[in-house]
Parts: sequence; structure tokens; C-alpha cells
Amino acid sequence: MTGTTALNGKNGSCWTATAGPTSYSPLEGSIHAETVVVGAGIVGLTTALRLCEAGRSVIVLEALRVGRQVTGRSTAKITTQHGLIYHDLMRNLGQPTAQSYADANRAGVRQILDWAAAHAIDCDLETRAAYTYTADPARRGEIEAEANAARQLGLDAEVLDRAPLPFSTAGALRFPDQAQFNPARYAIGLARAVEKLGGRIFELSRAVSIDEASRWRVVTDNGTAHAENMVVATNMTVKSPVGMANRTQPRSHPVMAFRIDDPTRLDGMFLGIDNPTRSIRTGRDDAGPLLVVLGPKFNTGQDADVARRFVELESWARANLPVGAAAWRWCNEDYDTPDRLPYVGEPDPDKSPGFHIATGFNAWGISNGTAAGILISDRILGQSCPWEKLYDPARPYDKEFHINGQSQSIVGSFDEIGPGEGGVLVSGEKKIAAWRDETGELHTVSATCTHKGCTVSWNNADRTWDCPCHGSIFAADGSVIHGPARKALPPASL
Ligand code: FES
Repeated sequence: MTGTTALNGKNGSCWTATAGPTSYSPLEGSIHAETVVVGAGIVGLTTALRLCEAGRSVIVLEALRVGRQVTGRSTAKITTQHGLIYHDLMRNLGQPTAQSYADANRAGVRQILDWAAAHAIDCDLETRAAYTYTADPARRGEIEAEANAARQLGLDAEVLDRAPLPFSTAGALRFPDQAQFNPARYAIGLARAVEKLGGRIFELSRAVSIDEASRWRVVTDNGTAHAENMVVATNMTVKSPVGMANRTQPRSHPVMAFRIDDPTRLDGMFLGIDNPTRSIRTGRDDAGPLLVVLGPKFNTGQDADVARRFVELESWARANLPVGAAAWRWCNEDYDTPDRLPYVGEPDPDKSPGFHIATGFNAWGISNGTAAGILISDRILGQSCPWEKLYDPARPYDKEFHINGQSQSIVGSFDEIGPGEGGVLVSGEKKIAAWRDETGELHTVSATCTHKGCTVSWNNADRTWDCPCHGSIFAADGSVIHGPARKALPPASL
């Protein structure tokens, strides 16, 4: 059983809440295009728009709503500054790899800025400097090493004695002229541009099966899409000819957005490298300016008390930043990889030609995700892409992530589950995921993840069932929010 903590802020992302509606119809019947893209987030829509710009035919299938999933829950920094990464990449993988990573992300940033202007996308895009800071004088050398590495790769970087933050810091790395935006609005803008160029977009159209007949075929509840090229852009792939499970680790972060009187007091986007990690930026919703603060990552589905993370984050924000009432709170999700590089491209071009995936953005999915869309579209257009090798999805990996498939929410009886709480009851062969609503009624579904059978945990902040193995997330009623699972947790009872 997990806690009863009352959390401040509305459960949901401030970006998706203010993105405005979309109303693309679900797919019905059988249709064909040269390329079908599964997933209307930043990767899928970048791929689709580039293909449409080249005059190619594209179908985009979104299981829920455009831009409201992983993209709409990110902190949406448009930057080549990814904490401390370039020094690490140079040391571990060599200068050419680090250069390629810098180039890919620079191209991703440029593409976003170009499209936002060209398509007049109303996405609260603002130029900001990016800062990576430490409050620990002993870590100042790491900031300097990162600045040196970044400069060697052609990035504009300077070291400051302190970050422009209202609390004490001991050094900061500054990249000028980066940007921030509302990622859900941006995704919706991309979708409109795709549609204008003849691309077809379908919402509420979950891919329930993907297979290969004479060409690729995606089946949804009410329709089928056929294509020569298949792009699975669902954060974690819902299908791949090369297994991604052992080479990725699902991670979540708690994020909160607070009211703030004067957003100009925080001029920049900030990432702390000390433990616990903090990320800070401004934003806005329909009611006015916000300060968005993110806390340290945790393994998805492996924390028995996610709510505690929000309590800690709010307490830190109140002690250190000029925040007012908590407005929004949510968990985001992404996948880490052993070498900190994403997996993008054709995993098996000989056996599965035309099948493309993109995953493992290590929490930097805005620029990396756009670079992924550039790469995939280049390949479909028969062009080479300079970061093809960098993102090779079949490259060897030297570290396997340890998967802990245990539920964190085991209870001995349903009586232990209070209003608003959830728990997993194991009885013989049966595993029941139960949550009790505020009226006291108990709702039960199977606790066995429909991906590969691990037992889900209750996320007591988002009120979701999170799988500890590969990061599938299910709503309290069992419906799928995030794959790799494609099927809901079915109703179940003792
Ligand atoms: Fe793979 Fe649940 S996500 S078993």
C-alpha cells in the first residue's frame, strides 16, 4: 500500500493543459501511404513534416492526443547544453562521437527554431541562456572541463563564478541563445503543418499490432494502415526487431509548476549537477507566469512512494525560489541508455528494411528527438545523415540495466487500501491491482503488465499503474498511457 499524502497542484502538465484541443478522427478502414508514423510526439511529427516537405505521403497514428504524452510532459528546453555530457563523451567515446552529438543536437535546435518561425507556431518560444550550475566549490573543475569540451566542439560556452539564481552557487556553465517553449503547442503546430502539406493524422488510434506482410501494416481498433516505411516513435518502441529492454532503463522525474509574480527574476534555464538534481525554468499557463521545477530521477515503477518526491520538491522550491501557490504537478518519463546516446534508425535493415525506431533520449528528447526525426526522414528519403552512426540502434552495449520486476505496492488485503490509494494483492496465481476512489469504491484490474508480465506498482502521485520492467504506464482504470504495452490491464477480481 502506498501513502495518503495530499499533494499541492493539479495533477497534469502545465503545457498539455494549455495546449488547446485537437480533434483528429480515429483511423477507420484500410489506407496506404509511403510511410506510417506511430506516435505524434516530437519524433514522429518531425519525421512526418520533413517527409511532407519533400512531397512524400505520410500517415501519423496517435494512440491518444497529439503532443500530450512524453513530449508534452518534458521540461522543454531547446538546448545543446545537456548537463555535463561533452567532456564525458570525449573521454569515453572520443572526440568524433562528441562532435557528432553536438552537431546532431545543434541541428535539432535549429530545426525547431526554423519551423516555429516558418509555420508561425504559437508555442511561447523564448530565447534564454542555459546554465548548468553547482553549489559545491569542489565541483567547479567539472564545470570548467565541460566548458572546454563544449568549446572544442564549436559550442559557445563560458564559465561564471555563480549562476543568476536567488540562492548561492559556486560556479556555472553558460550557453547563450538557447530557448524554451510549450512543447505540446509546438507539437500541435507541427501536426497542423503536416496536415497542410497533405499528411494524414489520426488520434485515438492505438497500434494494436504492427507486422510485415508484403509491406508494413499497422492495425488499430477500427482500421489498418499499410506503408513501405514504418516509424515507431512511441518513446519506448512498441515493436522492434532488436530488443531494447536490456539496453534502456525507464526513468521518471517529478515536475511542479508554481505561480510566480515576476518571472524576470529568473532569467535563464537552469540545471543543477549536485545531488539531488534540480532543473528550473519559467513558463506560463492560461492564468499567468509559472516557475517549473524538476526533481531527481527515479526508476519508473520502482518507487513505493512517488508522492514523497513532490513533497520534497515543493519544500526545496519554497526554501530557495520566489514561488507562490503550486499550480501543476506531474511525472515525466524517458529512457536512459548505457552510453547516454539515443537509439535511432533502422535496427535491422537487412531483415526488416524500412522499419525505424527512436528511443533512449536520456531526458534530452527535445533536441535529440528532433535530430532523430531528421535522421529517420533522411533515411526514408534515401539520404545519408551525419549522425546515423552516433544513434545506431543496433550498436553494441557494454552495460545491461538491472531489471527489478517486483511491484512496490503489495498489500495483504484490500482493507489496507484507503480512499485515493492503490495496492496489489497476490492471491495464488492471481495478482490484482486495486485502487479505492474518494467515495470508497474499489476498482480492480489485473496487476500483470500486458507487455511481458511484470507486476505493476501504484504511483501514488499520478494515480497510475507503472511497470517496473520497461516503463509501461496504465491509467487507474487499466487503459494504456505509455508503452511498450499496447493492451490495457484487463478487469480482474478475486
Ligand atoms: Fe515490459 Fe511491463 S513494460 S513487462
